[in-house]
Amino acid sequence: MKLQDKKILLTGATGATGGIGKEVALALANQGAKLVLVARRLAQLEDMRASLPNSECHHVLALDLTQPHDLESLSEHCRACIDDQCIDIVINNAGYNQFDLLSRRSAQSVSQEVQLNLTVPILLTQSALQWINRPGLILNVGSTLAGIGYPGYSAYCAAKSGLYRFSEALNRELDGSGIKVLYLAPRTTDTSLNSEYVRLMNQQLGNHCDDASLVAQHFVQVLQKEVEVRWIGWPEKLFVRINQLLPNVVSNTIRKQQETIHHFIRSMHKNV
Ligand SMILES: NC(=O)c1ccc[n+]([C@@H]2O[C@H](COP(=O)([O-])OP(=O)(O)OC[C@H]3O[C@@H](n4cnc5c(N)ncnc54)[C@H](OP(=O)(O)O)[C@@H]3O)[C@@H](O)[C@H]2O)c1
Repeated sequence: MKLQDKKILLTGATGATGGIGKEVALALANQGAKLVLVARRLAQLEDMRASLPNSECHHVLALDLTQPHDLESLSEHCRACIDDQCIDIVINNAGYNQFDLLSRRSAQSVSQEVQLNLTVPILLTQSALQWINRPGLILNVGSTLAGIGYPGYSAYCAAKSGLYRFSEALNRELDGSGIKVLYLAPRTTDTSLNSEYVRLMNQQLGNHCDDASLVAQHFVQVLQKEVEVRWIGWPEKLFVRINQLLPNVVSNTIRKQQETIHHFIRSMHKNV
Protein backbone atom coordinates (compact mmCIF):
# COMPACT_ATOMS: atom_id res chain seq x y z
CA MET A 1 0.00 0.00 0.00
CA LYS A 2 1.29 3.49 -0.77
CA LEU A 3 1.69 5.39 2.50
CA GLN A 4 1.41 8.94 1.16
CA ASP A 5 -1.70 10.63 2.71
CA LYS A 6 -2.80 7.41 4.45
CA LYS A 7 -4.30 7.80 7.91
CA ILE A 8 -2.41 5.52 10.29
CA LEU A 9 -3.27 4.69 13.90
CA LEU A 10 -0.08 3.81 15.81
CA THR A 11 -0.22 2.57 19.41
CA GLY A 12 2.85 2.76 21.66
CA ALA A 13 4.00 5.77 19.69
CA THR A 14 6.55 7.13 22.18
CA GLY A 15 9.54 5.76 24.09
CA ALA A 16 11.98 7.22 26.61
CA THR A 17 15.12 6.02 24.82
CA GLY A 18 14.71 4.96 21.23
CA GLY A 19 11.25 3.49 21.31
CA ILE A 20 10.27 1.52 18.23
CA GLY A 21 6.99 3.47 17.98
CA LYS A 22 8.82 6.80 18.04
CA GLU A 23 11.04 5.79 15.11
CA VAL A 24 8.10 4.24 13.25
CA ALA A 25 6.14 7.49 13.60
CA LEU A 26 9.05 9.43 12.11
CA ALA A 27 9.53 6.95 9.25
CA LEU A 28 5.80 6.99 8.41
CA ALA A 29 5.55 10.79 8.61
CA ASN A 30 8.52 10.96 6.22
CA GLN A 31 6.46 8.85 3.80
CA GLY A 32 3.67 11.46 3.95
CA ALA A 33 1.31 9.51 6.22
CA LYS A 34 -1.09 11.28 8.63
CA LEU A 35 -0.77 9.78 12.06
CA VAL A 36 -2.93 9.20 15.11
CA LEU A 37 -0.44 8.56 17.89
CA VAL A 38 -1.49 6.73 21.06
CA ALA A 39 0.33 6.20 24.38
CA ARG A 40 -0.41 6.99 28.03
CA ARG A 41 1.73 10.11 28.49
CA LEU A 42 0.31 13.21 26.84
CA ALA A 43 3.39 15.44 27.20
CA GLN A 44 5.60 12.90 25.41
CA LEU A 45 3.01 12.48 22.69
CA GLU A 46 2.77 16.23 22.14
CA ASP A 47 6.59 16.55 21.95
CA MET A 48 6.61 13.65 19.54
CA ARG A 49 3.96 15.20 17.30
CA ALA A 50 5.72 18.59 17.28
CA SER A 51 8.97 16.94 16.17
CA LEU A 52 7.41 15.23 13.14
CA PRO A 53 7.34 16.59 9.58
CA ASN A 54 3.91 18.14 8.81
CA SER A 55 3.10 18.12 12.54
CA GLU A 56 -0.29 19.79 11.93
CA CYS A 57 -1.44 16.64 10.04
CA HIS A 58 -1.03 14.37 13.08
CA HIS A 59 -3.19 13.79 16.17
CA VAL A 60 -2.37 12.47 19.61
CA LEU A 61 -4.55 10.56 22.06
CA ALA A 62 -3.35 9.89 25.62
CA LEU A 63 -4.98 6.59 26.58
CA ASP A 64 -4.19 3.57 28.72
CA LEU A 65 -5.17 0.75 26.40
CA THR A 66 -5.45 -1.73 29.25
CA GLN A 67 -8.43 0.28 30.54
CA PRO A 68 -11.64 -0.86 28.78
CA HIS A 69 -13.02 2.70 28.87
CA ASP A 70 -9.93 4.09 27.11
CA LEU A 71 -10.00 1.34 24.51
CA GLU A 72 -13.65 2.15 23.83
CA SER A 73 -12.81 5.89 23.51
CA LEU A 74 -10.18 5.05 20.92
CA SER A 75 -12.68 3.03 18.92
CA GLU A 76 -15.17 5.91 19.11
CA HIS A 77 -12.55 8.38 17.81
CA CYS A 78 -11.75 6.11 14.91
CA ARG A 79 -15.41 5.39 14.14
CA ALA A 80 -16.02 9.14 13.99
CA CYS A 81 -13.33 9.43 11.27
CA ILE A 82 -10.78 11.91 12.58
CA ASP A 83 -10.67 15.04 10.36
CA ASP A 84 -13.26 13.36 8.13
CA GLN A 85 -10.72 10.77 7.05
CA CYS A 86 -11.11 7.20 8.26
CA ILE A 87 -8.19 5.06 9.32
CA ASP A 88 -6.42 3.11 6.55
CA ILE A 89 -3.85 1.30 8.70
CA VAL A 90 -3.82 0.19 12.35
CA ILE A 91 -0.48 -0.67 13.95
CA ASN A 92 -0.76 -2.54 17.24
CA ASN A 93 2.68 -1.67 18.59
CA ALA A 94 2.13 -0.89 22.31
CA GLY A 95 3.74 -3.65 24.33
CA TYR A 96 5.53 -4.44 27.54
CA ASN A 97 7.47 -7.23 29.19
CA GLN A 98 9.10 -8.04 32.49
CA PHE A 99 12.14 -10.31 32.42
CA ASP A 100 11.92 -12.64 35.42
CA LEU A 101 11.10 -16.17 36.52
CA LEU A 102 7.36 -16.80 36.40
CA SER A 103 7.47 -18.03 40.01
CA ARG A 104 8.79 -14.65 41.18
CA ARG A 105 6.19 -12.49 39.45
CA SER A 106 2.86 -11.22 40.76
CA ALA A 107 -0.30 -12.57 39.15
CA GLN A 108 -1.27 -8.98 38.37
CA SER A 109 1.91 -8.21 36.40
CA VAL A 110 1.52 -11.43 34.38
CA SER A 111 -2.09 -10.65 33.65
CA GLN A 112 -1.31 -7.05 32.57
CA GLU A 113 1.46 -8.26 30.28
CA VAL A 114 -0.85 -10.72 28.54
CA GLN A 115 -3.56 -8.06 28.33
CA LEU A 116 -1.40 -5.38 26.66
CA ASN A 117 0.44 -7.73 24.29
CA LEU A 118 -2.46 -9.98 23.30
CA THR A 119 -5.96 -9.01 24.47
CA VAL A 120 -5.66 -5.30 23.58
CA PRO A 121 -4.51 -5.88 19.95
CA ILE A 122 -7.22 -8.52 19.47
CA LEU A 123 -9.94 -6.16 20.76
CA LEU A 124 -8.65 -3.14 18.84
CA THR A 125 -8.49 -5.25 15.67
CA GLN A 126 -12.04 -6.49 16.27
CA SER A 127 -13.23 -2.92 16.63
CA ALA A 128 -11.22 -1.81 13.55
CA LEU A 129 -13.20 -4.22 11.37
CA GLN A 130 -16.13 -1.79 11.81
CA TRP A 131 -14.33 1.43 10.85
CA ILE A 132 -11.11 0.77 8.90
CA ASN A 133 -11.10 1.74 5.22
CA ARG A 134 -11.01 -0.96 2.56
CA PRO A 135 -8.37 -1.63 1.36
CA GLY A 136 -6.98 -1.54 4.88
CA LEU A 137 -4.05 -3.02 6.79
CA ILE A 138 -3.69 -4.12 10.39
CA LEU A 139 -0.09 -4.67 11.49
CA ASN A 140 0.47 -6.57 14.73
CA VAL A 141 3.88 -6.21 16.33
CA GLY A 142 5.22 -9.44 17.73
CA SER A 143 8.67 -10.59 18.72
CA THR A 144 11.27 -13.25 17.95
CA LEU A 145 10.15 -14.60 21.33
CA ALA A 146 6.84 -15.55 19.69
CA GLY A 147 8.78 -18.20 17.79
CA ILE A 148 11.19 -19.35 20.49
CA GLY A 149 10.05 -20.01 24.06
CA TYR A 150 12.75 -18.36 26.17
CA PRO A 151 13.45 -18.54 29.93
CA GLY A 152 12.51 -15.39 31.85
CA TYR A 153 9.87 -14.45 29.28
CA SER A 154 7.24 -17.20 29.51
CA ALA A 155 4.16 -14.92 29.69
CA TYR A 156 5.52 -12.59 26.99
CA CYS A 157 6.31 -15.57 24.71
CA ALA A 158 2.76 -16.82 25.28
CA ALA A 159 1.21 -13.43 24.47
CA LYS A 160 3.32 -12.70 21.37
CA SER A 161 2.90 -16.23 19.96
CA GLY A 162 -0.84 -15.92 20.60
CA LEU A 163 -0.78 -12.67 18.64
CA TYR A 164 1.04 -14.44 15.80
CA ARG A 165 -1.63 -17.17 15.51
CA PHE A 166 -4.39 -14.58 15.87
CA SER A 167 -2.93 -12.57 12.97
CA GLU A 168 -2.56 -15.68 10.81
CA ALA A 169 -6.09 -16.92 11.54
CA LEU A 170 -7.77 -13.55 11.02
CA ASN A 171 -5.81 -12.83 7.85
CA ARG A 172 -7.17 -16.11 6.45
CA GLU A 173 -10.66 -15.33 7.75
CA LEU A 174 -10.60 -11.94 5.98
CA ASP A 175 -9.18 -13.25 2.70
CA GLY A 176 -10.83 -11.30 -0.13
CA SER A 177 -12.43 -8.75 2.22
CA GLY A 178 -10.01 -5.90 1.44
CA ILE A 179 -8.45 -6.03 4.92
CA LYS A 180 -5.12 -7.76 5.51
CA VAL A 181 -3.65 -8.64 8.89
CA LEU A 182 0.17 -8.59 8.98
CA TYR A 183 2.63 -9.69 11.65
CA LEU A 184 6.10 -8.20 12.17
CA ALA A 185 8.48 -9.72 14.71
CA PRO A 186 11.49 -7.62 15.75
CA ARG A 187 14.41 -9.23 17.58
CA THR A 188 16.04 -7.47 20.55
CA THR A 189 15.96 -3.74 19.89
CA ASP A 190 17.74 -0.98 21.79
CA THR A 191 14.84 0.63 23.69
CA SER A 192 13.95 1.25 27.32
CA LEU A 193 11.76 -1.87 27.25
CA ASN A 194 14.94 -3.78 28.07
CA SER A 195 16.40 -3.14 31.54
CA GLU A 196 20.10 -2.70 32.11
CA TYR A 197 20.25 -6.34 33.30
CA VAL A 198 18.71 -7.55 30.06
CA ARG A 199 21.12 -5.43 28.01
CA LEU A 200 24.13 -6.83 29.88
CA MET A 201 22.78 -10.38 29.62
CA ASN A 202 22.25 -10.01 25.86
CA GLN A 203 25.78 -8.64 25.49
CA GLN A 204 27.21 -11.58 27.42
CA LEU A 205 25.18 -14.10 25.41
CA GLY A 206 26.22 -12.46 22.15
CA ASN A 207 22.59 -11.69 21.20
CA HIS A 208 22.11 -9.09 18.47
CA CYS A 209 20.48 -5.78 19.34
CA ASP A 210 18.97 -3.66 16.55
CA ASP A 211 18.62 0.08 16.41
CA ALA A 212 14.96 1.17 16.54
CA SER A 213 15.42 3.27 13.37
CA LEU A 214 16.42 0.13 11.44
CA VAL A 215 13.37 -1.73 12.79
CA ALA A 216 11.21 1.21 11.67
CA GLN A 217 12.41 0.70 8.09
CA HIS A 218 11.04 -2.85 8.27
CA PHE A 219 7.63 -1.43 9.31
CA VAL A 220 7.60 0.81 6.23
CA GLN A 221 8.56 -2.07 3.90
CA VAL A 222 6.08 -4.52 5.43
CA LEU A 223 3.25 -2.00 4.96
CA GLN A 224 4.29 -0.94 1.46
CA LYS A 225 4.73 -4.51 0.22
CA GLU A 226 1.94 -5.93 2.40
CA VAL A 227 4.23 -8.68 3.71
CA GLU A 228 2.07 -11.07 5.75
CA VAL A 229 4.76 -12.24 8.18
CA ARG A 230 8.29 -10.98 8.73
CA TRP A 231 10.79 -12.14 11.36
CA ILE A 232 13.60 -9.60 11.58
CA GLY A 233 17.25 -10.69 11.62
CA TRP A 234 19.59 -13.60 11.04
CA PRO A 235 20.20 -16.02 12.73
CA GLU A 236 17.01 -15.46 14.76
CA LYS A 237 14.62 -16.19 11.88
CA LEU A 238 16.51 -19.45 11.26
CA PHE A 239 16.20 -20.41 14.95
CA VAL A 240 12.45 -19.79 14.73
CA ARG A 241 12.27 -22.35 11.87
CA ILE A 242 14.53 -24.84 13.65
CA ASN A 243 12.42 -24.48 16.81
CA GLN A 244 9.33 -25.52 14.83
CA LEU A 245 11.00 -28.55 13.27
CA LEU A 246 13.59 -29.63 15.85
CA PRO A 247 12.78 -27.98 19.20
CA ASN A 248 15.33 -30.15 21.05
CA VAL A 249 18.17 -28.53 19.11
CA VAL A 250 17.06 -25.12 20.38
CA SER A 251 16.49 -26.47 23.92
CA ASN A 252 20.09 -27.75 23.96
CA THR A 253 21.41 -24.34 22.88
CA ILE A 254 19.35 -22.54 25.52
CA ARG A 255 20.45 -25.07 28.19
CA LYS A 256 24.02 -23.79 27.69
CA GLN A 257 22.79 -20.24 28.40
CA GLN A 258 20.86 -21.13 31.58
CA GLU A 259 23.66 -20.26 34.01
CA THR A 260 24.04 -16.77 32.52
CA ILE A 261 20.26 -16.18 32.43
CA HIS A 262 19.85 -17.23 36.09
CA HIS A 263 22.90 -15.19 37.12
CA PHE A 264 21.25 -12.02 35.76
CA ILE A 265 17.89 -12.81 37.34
CA ARG A 266 19.59 -13.37 40.73
CA SER A 267 21.58 -10.10 40.42
CA MET A 268 18.40 -8.25 39.52
CA HIS A 269 16.69 -9.40 42.73
CA LYS A 270 19.75 -8.77 44.91
CA ASN A 271 19.73 -5.13 43.87
CA VAL A 272 15.99 -4.48 44.27
N1 LIG B 1 12.59 -3.56 22.39
C1 LIG B 1 12.68 -4.84 22.05
O1 LIG B 1 13.71 -5.51 22.32
C2 LIG B 1 11.56 -5.51 21.31
C3 LIG B 1 11.82 -6.72 20.65
C4 LIG B 1 10.78 -7.36 19.98
C5 LIG B 1 9.52 -6.81 20.00
N2 LIG B 1 9.28 -5.63 20.66
C6 LIG B 1 7.91 -5.11 20.63
O2 LIG B 1 7.91 -3.85 19.99
C7 LIG B 1 6.86 -3.01 20.51
C8 LIG B 1 7.43 -1.67 20.96
O3 LIG B 1 8.39 -1.92 21.99
P1 LIG B 1 9.49 -0.84 22.44
O4 LIG B 1 10.75 -1.58 22.63
O5 LIG B 1 9.45 0.34 21.58
O6 LIG B 1 8.92 -0.49 23.89
P2 LIG B 1 8.97 0.91 24.71
O7 LIG B 1 10.13 1.73 24.30
O8 LIG B 1 8.82 0.50 26.15
O9 LIG B 1 7.64 1.63 24.22
C9 LIG B 1 6.39 1.10 24.56
C10 LIG B 1 5.31 2.05 24.07
O10 LIG B 1 4.02 1.55 24.48
C11 LIG B 1 3.33 2.57 25.23
N3 LIG B 1 2.51 1.89 26.23
C12 LIG B 1 2.92 1.08 27.23
N4 LIG B 1 1.87 0.68 27.97
C13 LIG B 1 0.78 1.24 27.41
C14 LIG B 1 -0.61 1.21 27.72
N5 LIG B 1 -1.08 0.52 28.78
N6 LIG B 1 -1.47 1.91 26.95
C15 LIG B 1 -1.01 2.64 25.90
N7 LIG B 1 0.29 2.69 25.55
C16 LIG B 1 1.17 2.01 26.30
C17 LIG B 1 4.47 3.42 25.82
O11 LIG B 1 4.10 4.77 26.13
P3 LIG B 1 3.53 5.19 27.59
O12 LIG B 1 4.46 4.59 28.60
O13 LIG B 1 3.48 6.68 27.57
O14 LIG B 1 2.16 4.60 27.64
C18 LIG B 1 5.44 3.45 24.64
O15 LIG B 1 4.97 4.38 23.68
C19 LIG B 1 6.24 -3.83 21.66
O16 LIG B 1 5.09 -4.48 21.19
C20 LIG B 1 7.32 -4.84 22.01
O17 LIG B 1 6.79 -5.99 22.60
C21 LIG B 1 10.27 -4.96 21.30
